[in-house]
Amino acid sequence: MIKNFIDIENFRKKQLDEILQIAKKIKKNPKKFSSSLKNKTLGMIFEKQSLRTRLSFNVGMQKLGGNVVELISKDIGFDNKREEKKDILNILAQFIDCLMIRNNNHKLLIELSNQKVLPIINGLTEYSHPCQILGDFLTIHEIFKTYKKLQITWIGDYNNVLISLLHLQNIYLFNLNVVVPEKILKKNKSKIIKYKNDKIKLLSDPLIGAKNSNCIMTDVWISMGDKDKNKTNHFKNFTVNRKIINLATKDAIFMHCLPAKRGKEVTSEVLDGKNSVILQQAKNRMYIQQAILLYVFKK
Ligand code: CP
Ligand code: NVA
Repeated sequence: MIKNFIDIENFRKKQLDEILQIAKKIKKNPKKFSSSLKNKTLGMIFEKQSLRTRLSFNVGMQKLGGNVVELISKDIGFDNKREEKKDILNILAQFIDCLMIRNNNHKLLIELSNQKVLPIINGLTEYSHPCQILGDFLTIHEIFKTYKKLQITWIGDYNNVLISLLHLQNIYLFNLNVVVPEKILKKNKSKIIKYKNDKIKLLSDPLIGAKNSNCIMTDVWISMGDKDKNKTNHFKNFTVNRKIINLATKDAIFMHCLPAKRGKEVTSEVLDGKNSVILQQAKNRMYIQQAILLYVFKK
């Protein structure tokens, strides 16, 4: 059976728990896993820029004893009509064992994953970023040893990272404040509302949302491929600064998936400050993705 990793919402809690457990084990004892994916090859297609996802999948796969081949979309005819995507996938399946894709077309990822000739991993689309959020959950576990009573607060845009966070919340049911500018909230309300439960608060004031939070998360105001560049006007008072962090609990952490626009969604003071866990967060991408790879390869 071919297993995919497209969205957190496709999984049961038990399966996600298992992936998180594996990630912790790999981090603790990487040597034990150094030939787990021997003779396996991961293909990667990046149609948008990437530093962390590219590095963490590449190095992570090699550390599991596997191989990596980066496929340039244009060069293999994946970005045009040279041949149909399903035909390309059938050919890829003759040479590689798993395909990670980052693109601006979530629907295509679903179509390819339904073809079931090769495990497909979502390395970020315009809709979601599941590897990121599961990695972030690993970081939260490491720091707080729990998630049940935590107050997590998102301050930013309604975007792919937030959607994966909502998917995760719907499974683990932690307290989540979603602080999004009023206009953006209104525009997306019908989409957000389907994730709503009594542990989620929808807000538009960062000063209210941040109060007593254990974790404050943000992301860029304009994501890759987002054409609405005027949107930044809505983010007045949304810069995560010392004042906002001071409203959170004393041991609160600041998270950002990166890349960050310093001085926009977060001040340098916070990004480089004592509450910030951005480097641990970035490194944990590798362990969670190694665990995802082991999961999709497990018979
Ligand atoms: N956070 C993240 O996915 O980073 P990259 O876009 O650099 O891969
Ligand atoms: N929301 C951001 C995440 C980058 C990792 C984007 O899509 O550009």
